[in-house]
Amino acid sequence: MNEAKVAFFDRIEQQGLALTFDDVRLRTSANPDNPLPDPLDISSRFSRNVELNTPFVSAAMDTVTESRMAISMAELGGLGVLHAALSPQEQKAKVRTVKYANSGLIPNPKTVNETDSLQEVINRCETENYHFRTFPVIDNNGKFVGLITGRTFRYRDEDSTKTVSELMTPSDQVVKAPANVEVDEAYTLMTKEEVNTLPLINGDGSVKGLYIYDSIKRSIRANDSTHNVDSHHRLRVAAAVPTNESAIERVKLMRGSSDFLDVVVLDSADGDSYWAFRTLDELKSEFPDLDVVVGNISDGESARMLAEAGADGIKVGQGPGSICTTRIETGIGKPQVSAIYECASAVEDLDVPLCADGGIRNHGDISIAIAAGAHTVMMGKMLAGTEEAAGEKLTGPDGRIYKKYRGMASPSSIKDGGAAARGYVGASEETPLPEGVDDEVHFRGPVESVIKLCKQALIKSMKYTKSRSLDDHRKNAQLFRVTNSGMIESMPHIKL
Ligand code: XMP
Repeated sequence: MNEAKVAFFDRIEQQGLALTFDDVRLRTSANPDNPLPDPLDISSRFSRNVELNTPFVSAAMDTVTESRMAISMAELGGLGVLHAALSPQEQKAKVRTVKYANSGLIPNPKTVNETDSLQEVINRCETENYHFRTFPVIDNNGKFVGLITGRTFRYRDEDSTKTVSELMTPSDQVVKAPANVEVDEAYTLMTKEEVNTLPLINGDGSVKGLYIYDSIKRSIRANDSTHNVDSHHRLRVAAAVPTNESAIERVKLMRGSSDFLDVVVLDSADGDSYWAFRTLDELKSEFPDLDVVVGNISDGESARMLAEAGADGIKVGQGPGSICTTRIETGIGKPQVSAIYECASAVEDLDVPLCADGGIRNHGDISIAIAAGAHTVMMGKMLAGTEEAAGEKLTGPDGRIYKKYRGMASPSSIKDGGAAARGYVGASEETPLPEGVDDEVHFRGPVESVIKLCKQALIKSMKYTKSRSLDDHRKNAQLFRVTNSGMIESMPHIKL
């Protein structure tokens, strides 16, 4: 942080004040010497080892992030955090859906039996409307015994009464691979062997999946351009877990045998509780190579203690969210810009990225959050109205389309179990206190268009502050305090 920013926040703190987005704006700075690069660098990190191409993260809420949102966020260079109000098995399945998206892998492909006649297979293709003609062949015990492809159909018309086993390429002549082969290894093997299909075979001989060369090639090219991908070219995904004993089991399931989960978010409204520290400790001992982001907190001292206890990222925000009532019900929580700054400056020397979670209402808030010290912003309301958001679509009495958006501690979410997933419910509480509201937001179309605007606005703001990268913006952008009339002046006021 530069000296001017430190001095600004010191002055505010000395007065016993804390600021939020509408209390501040950013200074422009002059740059007579060097033109800014084009494009500016908006890559960032969600945690120590998890990089993003864009600093946007979708909230771990049951009306925001399930696999559809997580896929789109990663495709847009950011990250989706799957919410924890899912059963462990459901959460695992959603992680897999993200990882298999765009991978060129067909999991559990359709198979045919070796005793089927070719005509039976042709009939099935017609009735089931299959557009493909590649099938792994299995025997009566479900074991892989061979492969038929488009060639079998194309050149064997006259053989349609023959059985599949007579026409297939038998297993010993098929290039195949074990079930855990990743897309990059599959691509290398298929290129070397010059094959278009690669069946993946489980230890018991059954078929796990099928890679198709052209789709792998397409997906590697697309994924490696702007998408946020792991070292195997798969889309990155995060998942929230509660601060209790179920965290370990959930992470074990989600990671699976192939490091499917990129980062876990230990998610609680009270992120510096005994249970948060304890679960962090357990997760780091059990999975030392998995990044754990912990939140939510709003105090510098807590950020420091969590970072020293092993957190790989810190999530800041107690009560700034659009659907939150924590501050009203409990009086707890610090205005978000001060919370971000205090936490960021407390862990600055520890290389622990900070995620500013909640309260982003206008695009300019994103730039302010980063200028105050955040590496990424987590958004709920901003994304809740999009097609990909997990909330239900509704038609309002005015005929307009809405999407349901609710706090994880809203009355309806408490009933459905969402509040427990984020630690709002104490063990002895029969009727938990709502700390959020149930609401709806206007439908906004595809998430791509919303993120595009967020990105444009952030880049524009960085141009005004003359920042070449987000790091530059975070270190050097200067804030100043605005009055209420300054804020009124900032908004359209033609009718005033
Ligand atoms: P926005 O403003 O983006 O905020 O809609 C999303 C964030 O709000 C938090 N959250 C809650 N906070 N009561 C709260 O006090 C709740 O019921 C609740 N549900 C979500 C969460 O951090 C989310 O990312």
